[in-house]
Amino acid sequence: MNYERIEICPLTPTLGAEVSGVDLSQPVDNATAEEIRRAFADYLVLFVRGQEISPDNQVAFAGLFGPVGTYPFAEPIDEHPQVIPIIKEPHQTTNFGGIWHTDTPYLEKPSLGSVLYAREVPAVGGDTIWASGYRAWETLSDGLRATLEPLRAVQSAAKNKAKLRTDHLKNGSMRGHNEGAMDVQQAEHPVARTHPVTGRKALYVSPAHTTHFVGWTEAESAPLLNYLFSHITREGNTCRFRWTKGAVAVWDNRCSLHYPLNDYHGHRREMHRVTIEGEWPV
Ligand code: SIN
Repeated sequence: MNYERIEICPLTPTLGAEVSGVDLSQPVDNATAEEIRRAFADYLVLFVRGQEISPDNQVAFAGLFGPVGTYPFAEPIDEHPQVIPIIKEPHQTTNFGGIWHTDTPYLEKPSLGSVLYAREVPAVGGDTIWASGYRAWETLSDGLRATLEPLRAVQSAAKNKAKLRTDHLKNGSMRGHNEGAMDVQQAEHPVARTHPVTGRKALYVSPAHTTHFVGWTEAESAPLLNYLFSHITREGNTCRFRWTKGAVAVWDNRCSLHYPLNDYHGHRREMHRVTIEGEWPV
């Protein structure tokens, strides 16, 4: 089906598309919102460049996809509890979320998606890469899919917490929130989850948060999980976005992973992120 209200330029055959023809500082009409949601289902991650938006505009855009939620482990910006800053200062050497992950899989109802807005970006570096959980699932052998199909995995906020968040929060402009809860927050979810809109199955494990298969030990799980982590992040399964100031991305956490590159030491990068509430994975 074609798009009539927006223009779409796919980034790769697998996932990712740039959208033009929208101004997110203004209310988005219903017909345009329908097309944006259709493109979101088709491409998993959408990018809109050149936007000048307020935190309220960003929350309104996120609201086109579902109820807007909060992120448990970082302080939001003043007067906008749904917007967290993601900032790397020139003196910092770690970045926030710098391991392949999907957002908040350790919650019983993990985030549906996230909206990231680039407020300040380095001249070069600081790109983000996304990977398709659909293609990862669909390119496994029938035999491995049959093995994985009934399995559930534990997703933990504690796994890699220093590298993902706490090391970065020290000495920077971001502030931690509920840090004690990171050690205990975890959930069990299907290894292959079915997307409620497309009906497609997506591999739902990540190096950042998946510790083991339910009923297996960590040592037993590790070889197969490591295989799945390298399978899902293979080059042909990804798209890479070079940020420009004012660019907005919205991605689907139910069927994709992402990885912010940390290759811009000495430069500042400031983003605002809004989290869209999700449903119980099945
Ligand atoms: C995130 O993991 O949500 C942040 C992504 C980025 O900074 O590019």
